[in-house]
Amino acid sequence: MSVIILGIESSCDDTSAAVIKDGLLLSNVVASQAVHESYGGVVPELASRAHQQNIVPVVHEALKRAGVSKEELSAVAFTRGPGLMGSLLVGVSFAKGFARSLNIPLIDVNHLNAHVLAHFIKEKNEVIKQPAFPFLCLLVSGGNSQIILVKAYNEMEILGQTIDDAAGEAIDKCSKVMGLGYPGGPIVDRLARQGNPKAFSFSKPHIPGLDYSFSGLKTSFLYSLRDWIKEDPDFIEHHRTDLAASLEATIVDILMDKLRKAAKQYHIKEVAIAGGVSANNGLRNAFREHAEKYGWEVYIPKFSYTTDNAAMIAITGYLKYLDKDFCSIELPAYSRVTLS
Ligand code: KG4
Repeated sequence: MSVIILGIESSCDDTSAAVIKDGLLLSNVVASQAVHESYGGVVPELASRAHQQNIVPVVHEALKRAGVSKEELSAVAFTRGPGLMGSLLVGVSFAKGFARSLNIPLIDVNHLNAHVLAHFIKEKNEVIKQPAFPFLCLLVSGGNSQIILVKAYNEMEILGQTIDDAAGEAIDKCSKVMGLGYPGGPIVDRLARQGNPKAFSFSKPHIPGLDYSFSGLKTSFLYSLRDWIKEDPDFIEHHRTDLAASLEATIVDILMDKLRKAAKQYHIKEVAIAGGVSANNGLRNAFREHAEKYGWEVYIPKFSYTTDNAAMIAITGYLKYLDKDFCSIELPAYSRVTLS
């Protein structure tokens, strides 16, 4: 009998539902919330309200596109955390009610594990190269910057992580200082393509081991800009593309330095990236260059699986379903958690 999993994601500002049948993705619907743009960041209360409005139509659309009726579902997988509590509660409550009404199992998914396992999403008629265990995954998003040793789909170890800001957070904050829109990542990425990455230099952290730090870079960016603006009030306007390219290059260098160190230390050449910042073209190029230079086998996700999506929740749910790894309806959401 087929295994059909409905995945539900609502950890931040994307309401998403996806259907996976026997390991193949049938649908992945994402409703992003434009309401936050004018605030320069996600407003938690607005996010949970928008999830409440979106969740039913998004799930309905995912089932419709998959050509699957709710009675055919084998289980419902949902993001338990980490994330914004008000946002999580909408998805968690919906998943619990839906699974209970259909009398099918519930599967809790750690959002961070799911980002890593996005590399196992397979679409119909698609031949994909999947990483072989053990592999390293650089998970970079608005909330995380981690180097993860992935020993099995359900066995992950954090080798290093940021001690302050995440890479995406640093890009977003620097972009805000430049008066660009939100989220800054895609804007900086676009501007950087036309700029000189060596035009300006910003301070890089000296943190031992495999941990990251981005708060110093953020301060260095802010103070440098202040000085330059004193000389030329239109400095940002005159140098926007070079600033974006130099900022991006510094962040990519910081990320890749530690990743190289980890690959060497653990003798691993299977290396993946995941999370929102993995959409960045500079980072993707650096991965390809490292593959060439160091003989790495690199795994770069499709753009649609870099930012938050339910396809990654559904594939994680599918793998857990095969192990009959279900959860109780009593299980609460959690806002802060590391890998499980
Ligand atoms: O994984 P994600 O969608 O959400 C979480 O943080 O969980 O990541 C969002 C982050 C934001 O900081 C956004 O600016 C960044 O990913 N981002 C990018 C790009 N696209 C999204 N950063 C750099 N280049 C991009 N193309």
